Amino acid sequence: MAMNTMARAEAAEHAMSAELDRIAVKSVIYTSGERDPRDLMPYPPDQRRFYLMGADPRLAPMPERPTLFDFFRLRFGPSQHMLQSARLATKNGVDEKIVLACLLHDIAITGFIRSDHGYWAAQLLEPYVDPEVSWAIRYHQALRFYPDPSVGYEYPQLYVKLFGPDFLPEPYIEQAYREAREHKWYMSARLITVNDLYSFDPNVKVELEEFTDVVGRHFRQPAQGLGFDSSPSAHIWRTIMWPTRYL
Ligand SMILES: [Fe+2]
Ligand SMILES: [Fe+2]
Repeated sequence: MAMNTMARAEAAEHAMSAELDRIAVKSVIYTSGERDPRDLMPYPPDQRRFYLMGADPRLAPMPERPTLFDFFRLRFGPSQHMLQSARLATKNGVDEKIVLACLLHDIAITGFIRSDHGYWAAQLLEPYVDPEVSWAIRYHQALRFYPDPSVGYEYPQLYVKLFGPDFLPEPYIEQAYREAREHKWYMSARLITVNDLYSFDPNVKVELEEFTDVVGRHFRQPAQGLGFDSSPSAHIWRTIMWPTRYL
């Protein structure tokens, strides 16, 4: 039965009031730079409404016990770059753990924070993957800036385009590169960079299911769900799930 105009208007109003029922806030990290973080927050407390302390109604609802793939589907941005890297790594015959590392190497960018994305992703994943996997993800960030002719890895032309021809990495990145070169897992991080390509066919769409088994074997999915397992990074998963909670 078609809704009459009045009913439609009421439904729309209900939807809007449900959405605006509580005030959703943005953390300093979302706005710093666009505004001076030392200034008072621009939103005055609204005495007639409460602040949001749970799920943001503007975002897709998450299941009670979210899995890694739930985060990919419901919270992360487009992930084809990582999926295609993982497919390429598989094609290149690398160890399955490295395929997983390729699949996850940029999740900080797609789901959380760009700046220092290798470090954030490593921290997020550490409780759930082999230490070699999180180590490799942490160090791929630095290794991306340094060529390794032994495996045919060159400084990415994309970086010249993105950062200009004169860009030099920060000293801490240079230092991380030196540490990595001396480390027994150097080649694991290096293999992420080797398979970290942007020149894929845009018409090819890789599905997550292609990696169900690799994830099943090498990612320790907590029974309580990511975010509710009291791991040292559970809070980061919760923040990705509920990014606009007041506290
Ligand atoms: Fe990366
Ligand atoms: Fe990447």
